[in-house]
Amino acid sequence: METQTSKTIGGYFQLSLEQGKEYYPDLIKLNTSRNALEYILIVKGYTKIYLPYFTCEVLLEPIVRLNIKYQFYNINKELEPIIDFEIGPTECLLYTNYFGLTQKTVKKLSESIDNLIVDNAQAFFSKPLQGTDTFYSCRKFFGVSDGAYLQINIDDRLVLEKDSSADRLRHLIGSIDYGIENNYADFLDNEESLKDNYIKSMSLLTQALLRNVNYRECKRKRIENFRYLNDKLFLANELEIAFQDGIPAMVYPLLISKKGIKAKLIEKKIFVPTYWPNVFKWTTEDMFEHRLAKRTIYLPVDQRYNVSDMAYIVDFLKKII
Ligand SMILES: Cc1ncc(COP(=O)(O)O)c(C=O)c1O
Repeated sequence: METQTSKTIGGYFQLSLEQGKEYYPDLIKLNTSRNALEYILIVKGYTKIYLPYFTCEVLLEPIVRLNIKYQFYNINKELEPIIDFEIGPTECLLYTNYFGLTQKTVKKLSESIDNLIVDNAQAFFSKPLQGTDTFYSCRKFFGVSDGAYLQINIDDRLVLEKDSSADRLRHLIGSIDYGIENNYADFLDNEESLKDNYIKSMSLLTQALLRNVNYRECKRKRIENFRYLNDKLFLANELEIAFQDGIPAMVYPLLISKKGIKAKLIEKKIFVPTYWPNVFKWTTEDMFEHRLAKRTIYLPVDQRYNVSDMAYIVDFLKKII
């Protein structure tokens, strides 16, 4: 007898969402980007990974779980890797596309390094280069609780259970009623809940939410906000990087040696993150990576804001720098 999964008709309404399109509908959809890294490490069978001191420590989760050797490397003032080691045939190099601003370096590396893995967790809008293993993390750019995309350059696929995100929405929806600050603990709970999970495929809920994003508008606003901040702040910025115009970056990085700026911004309720607290454990004060973590202010440029919000930030900054 033929079995048929019957379609549900009627009943109550689900959350009303647009039926748009994901930005990377054809990539592999996973629960987190650290697990996208695990996926690559398993499928490719790498025995050692080189990764930057300047990155997020959750990337060690899969490396430790799979018991793979790892070695940190330094980056230079242009945020490019300093490769003073040999990458063996079963070894790989992970490079972070910093804030979406280092796609040129990604391109250069892809031409010279065979076993390259590109971490685009901070570079959602940087398209993957053909043939280069690349992953993305969705919640760094949009209001979702989890989700990652992966491009991998071989056909082998892992069979995965599907993730579910219905219990992870408290901080996303609670903050609409009660404000961002009042649900910060729920945000931290969500981050905690993503630790040490199995590789799963992206939940249907996260996919549905990602189909609801106006990507074109997100890009436009990020480009406009970044341009404004760079116009007003590049003379004060101690980073020696010529930012390319027209990039929908994650944040605007502003390196200022003067102490206490971050605390004053936070006091003014301009919340700026630290990328990344673990870098203080891994580096010494004389290292550039340490300055990037300690003295660089990562200003928001995302789609929630417009140029008048940027002007508000700049006006305040000018008083304290
Ligand atoms: C550069 C970078 N890569 C990867 C990750 C891990 O992303 P996920 O939380 O989706 O595993 C993070 C932070 O969480 C990150 O900052």
